Amino acid sequence: MSIFSRSLLLSAIITLAAPAQQPIPEKQVEKRVDSLLKQMTLREKIGQLNQLFVFPQPVPGMPSLNDEDIAKGDYGSFLFVSDAAQINRLQHIAVDKSRLHIPLLFGLDVIHGFKTVFPAPIAMAASFDPATVERAQAVAAREASAAGVRWTFAPMVDIARDPRWGRIMEGAGEDPFLGSAIARAQVKGFQGSYIGEPGHVLTSVKHFAGYGAADGGRDYDSSYISDEQLWNVYLPPFHAAVEAGAGTVMSAYMDLNGVPATGNRFLLTDVLRDTWNFQGFVVSDAFAVRDLVTHGFAKDPADAASLSISAGVNMDMGSRTYIDNLETLVKEGRFKETQIERMVRPILAMKIRLGLFETPYVDESATKSIFAASEHKAEARRAAQRSAVLLRNEGALLPLIQGRYSSIAVIGPMADSFIDIRGSWALVDDPTQAISVARGIREKVGNGVRVETAMGCEIRRNVPSMFDMILGVKRGTPLTDQQNTTEIEKAVTLASRSDVSVMVLGETQDMSGEAASRTSLDLPGRQEELLEKVMAIGKPLVLVLLNGRPLSIHWAAEHVPAILEAWYPGAEGGHAVADLLFGDANPGGKLPVTFPRTVGQVPIYYAHTLTHQPEGSPGFVSRYWDEPSSPLYPFGYGLSYTTFKISNLKVENHKVSVDVQNTGARAGDEVVQLYIHQKSGRASRPVRLLKGFERVTLAPGESKTVHFTLTDDELSYWSATDRKWVHDRSDFDVWVGSDSNATLHGNLSPVQ
Ligand code: GLC
Repeated sequence: MSIFSRSLLLSAIITLAAPAQQPIPEKQVEKRVDSLLKQMTLREKIGQLNQLFVFPQPVPGMPSLNDEDIAKGDYGSFLFVSDAAQINRLQHIAVDKSRLHIPLLFGLDVIHGFKTVFPAPIAMAASFDPATVERAQAVAAREASAAGVRWTFAPMVDIARDPRWGRIMEGAGEDPFLGSAIARAQVKGFQGSYIGEPGHVLTSVKHFAGYGAADGGRDYDSSYISDEQLWNVYLPPFHAAVEAGAGTVMSAYMDLNGVPATGNRFLLTDVLRDTWNFQGFVVSDAFAVRDLVTHGFAKDPADAASLSISAGVNMDMGSRTYIDNLETLVKEGRFKETQIERMVRPILAMKIRLGLFETPYVDESATKSIFAASEHKAEARRAAQRSAVLLRNEGALLPLIQGRYSSIAVIGPMADSFIDIRGSWALVDDPTQAISVARGIREKVGNGVRVETAMGCEIRRNVPSMFDMILGVKRGTPLTDQQNTTEIEKAVTLASRSDVSVMVLGETQDMSGEAASRTSLDLPGRQEELLEKVMAIGKPLVLVLLNGRPLSIHWAAEHVPAILEAWYPGAEGGHAVADLLFGDANPGGKLPVTFPRTVGQVPIYYAHTLTHQPEGSPGFVSRYWDEPSSPLYPFGYGLSYTTFKISNLKVENHKVSVDVQNTGARAGDEVVQLYIHQKSGRASRPVRLLKGFERVTLAPGESKTVHFTLTDDELSYWSATDRKWVHDRSDFDVWVGSDSNATLHGNLSPVQ
């Protein structure tokens, strides 16, 4: 290296040496990037576009880690390395041995916690509490960055209206307004107030875009989305994340309207860069660049590399398609080096903003105390309390009165499971530290109460999950039907000799998440039979659901007096469920997704448009003749151990206010929700659209006035006829209440 470039590089390092307590000025970032690019060879530039997927277990046919390639500068980033010592070791190779000492960027799916597992994202959305979501992701960022993971492949913001799709557990449900609020909170929690803030990480908002609309709810299947639905439903949470400063975006696997997202110029350039002015970089989903050939979109890997990078994907996750093909494409004149540089630039800029050049290593001795911080567990427990949704509480069976019961049966395949309570995407925690429901109850009631468990039945997927393969999970031989019958009998016997039964039913952690779609929404296995047999004993029974997708629990909804939707509540889930069951916490969550009566109703969501024959029209029976058209539980629904009154709605111009009072005998939270309906205009608009919510905590008898402002943007929509955002001068219905069936009504007229 020439003296000139060495001094330039030295000045770069010295200037950046000061710890980045403030964002590095953009001019300085650009100057450093220019200086580096001038020195980089074509191969080194392409190396920055190459991310290696480091599988926890060797996977045949997959590229493996090679130290020499690091020293050559062939990797810009690693995925799935999460151990501080290993990260430091690899970083030393890159910084000490590569020609330009460019540090590696380590990324991981820190979706809902790193070492401290928080409730699954669908649960966090159910809290309707962005501040809690932000705090949760700030804890995850603190732990991940301490280990050297400076980039998370989150938030996942895919709108999902088909519960057959297993990844519904990873997002914020069916609604773009709630989804956008949760997306903003996650970006803020992960990234802090600027990219590079100590203790924070870069985000990657995913999966851009339309992944949740997979045909049949089948993961990875095609999404056919109209422009109207794309702009009004599926894109808004991505736009919210980009506006909140998300540093990177991940392109999705599936084809959107026939064009694979990872080669989709409309999405990655027209929308993301040209319309939204996104300045960060795009990483493909795993092997998605190579898979453009599988899609029948690219004719060969070289074509895939060219199509993907031209569409706007900066970094190739895992497939080596860029590093194996781009150099030749440039040398053959089929691709310009300046185009490569344009894709490298934001990656180098992010590494500089993150401070990786001046502090590429982590302090391995600091990780233990950070991972074990008691305040992290407290945050996880509080988040789980606030995410739970009380679906039923006939006769106020809940909360269970401490001291009333001398024996408690905790029954179900997940009653004492510390694995399942964490949900999917819990990758680097110690599962044995997670608190099962049974353990949470035992610790709550103490030794004076007999708490016994019975599995009742075993449930498992028909085929092993993708994570079993990646994480090397081996499951034993499944129980036979007869063995399950025996387990059911044992559970019934236990319930018969206990004062109360807590049934813990739902889905194991691998039954939702990636590559975990189902054709049914019923309780898997013989859980329904187990539930009905225990219920038939006639003793008090509470149902706790552990699940990542809506379940069509229509029998339970009619026969089980108390039902608590706990989702996958995370490592502190057992403690939080016990807090809720015994009244040390009062459930205040609301459903972020509609619960169908049956899978036959799917897709079913609250923000549907009116037809010429709305429900209940005279002579009109129903859209189905075999089931009501209404859902089992509507979007925004959730009960409390107390009661609330929402009244005195005022709508003046764009200002909406309403009074909410706690009319019960104990403190509790209500989520006051504001919905609008445009009565006429250039399109038939949804009967309800969430345009405001606020979770309030009220003491018994306490009242509060909640205020909302309806902005012009919130009254606008993307018009399929005008092909742009419009704001019709229309009257709007305004409803405010405790779920999407709110009846308290007002009218908003256009400002004269
Ligand atoms: C997976 C997922 C994506 C994840 C990536 C890396 O297949 O689709 O969400 O970030 O690969 O694990």
